[in-house]
Amino acid sequence: MRVFVTGASGWIGSAVVDELLGAGHEVTGLSRSEASAAVLQSKGARVRRGDLDDLASIRAGAEAAEAVIHLANKHDWSNPAASSAAERAAVQAIGDALAGTDRPFLLASGVAGLTQGRPATEDDPSPFHGPDSPRGGSENLALEFADRGVRTVSLRFAPTVHGAGDHGFIATITAVAREKGVSGYPGDGTNRWAAVHRSDAAGLVALGLAKAPAGARLHAVAEDGIPTRDIAEAIGRSLGLPVTSIAPADIQGHFGWIGTFFGMDLPATSTATRELLSWEPTGPTLIGDIDAGGYSTRTPMAE
Ligand SMILES: NC(=O)c1ccc[n+]([C@@H]2O[C@H](COP(=O)([O-])OP(=O)(O)OC[C@H]3O[C@@H](n4cnc5c(N)ncnc54)[C@H](OP(=O)(O)O)[C@@H]3O)[C@@H](O)[C@H]2O)c1
Repeated sequence: MRVFVTGASGWIGSAVVDELLGAGHEVTGLSRSEASAAVLQSKGARVRRGDLDDLASIRAGAEAAEAVIHLANKHDWSNPAASSAAERAAVQAIGDALAGTDRPFLLASGVAGLTQGRPATEDDPSPFHGPDSPRGGSENLALEFADRGVRTVSLRFAPTVHGAGDHGFIATITAVAREKGVSGYPGDGTNRWAAVHRSDAAGLVALGLAKAPAGARLHAVAEDGIPTRDIAEAIGRSLGLPVTSIAPADIQGHFGWIGTFFGMDLPATSTATRELLSWEPTGPTLIGDIDAGGYSTRTPMAE
């Protein structure tokens, strides 16, 4: 299949591109820099130069493809509204380009905010509608295209898609620990994070491309819910730092922007995804990755 991938140079996207190329697909990656274009070309992928805000380029890339996997995100944590607006506009452009073609459109999403006090499942619809909601309500917008001749598939990634080289949330929490000289956890540390190794997430994306039906919500979740205290203890071990509770009132001050997420209870299951696609995650656990040193020398996205 000719697959157009946005975010092809990213943490998840680069693994997805490898997976797709390995499966014999022809990949065109959206790239906004010479450096990422060169990496893509060295792998044997094609390049479409363009920015997320260049909607004409995104539309043209989608029109020229037999499938689209949308993983790009501005991740502007100082201005989430800008990230959400760009996300929504890109999803609208891709959906418009694919309408009536029955072609696959897989897009990144998450599990945050889907439920309160219990693990999120694939049956839980996103409560986020409209441009002012988290991620610009892009999952629901994309799923609307399932009724307009698009094989939309939502990829709900666990809040940590982990592994050696990760520059995301766990790397950022690790950097805070290093900076503060203490590995903190929010409150009593019983709030949980679901997790998945990057290799398992990339494998799920390829399976979803091949087999998931229109309207599917896939959970890229290998571990349902790891207490944040366990995460902080592993980070403390890996850095040789003490571990301590951070009072709820101090979470923002201590952790900065990542505190919003680290303080949330974000468990999720993937029973339906495993059954639907015969997906069985086999990668290392989050604690295993931290203990193996995958985070003790890494640079997070915030730096
Ligand atoms: N990683 C996780 O744990 C996790 C968890 C839940 C959901 N997600 C979601 O999964 C998706 C992929 O995440 P990721 O961890 O792979 O993110 P990432 O490593 O930060 O990669 C982001 C990608 O988007 C591209 N990008 C950023 N701004 C762009 C712009 N203005 N125009 C064009 N491309 C732009 C980046 O290109 P450059 O290489 O040029 O910067 C990069 O390829 C995102 O939607 C993310 O929110 C990730």
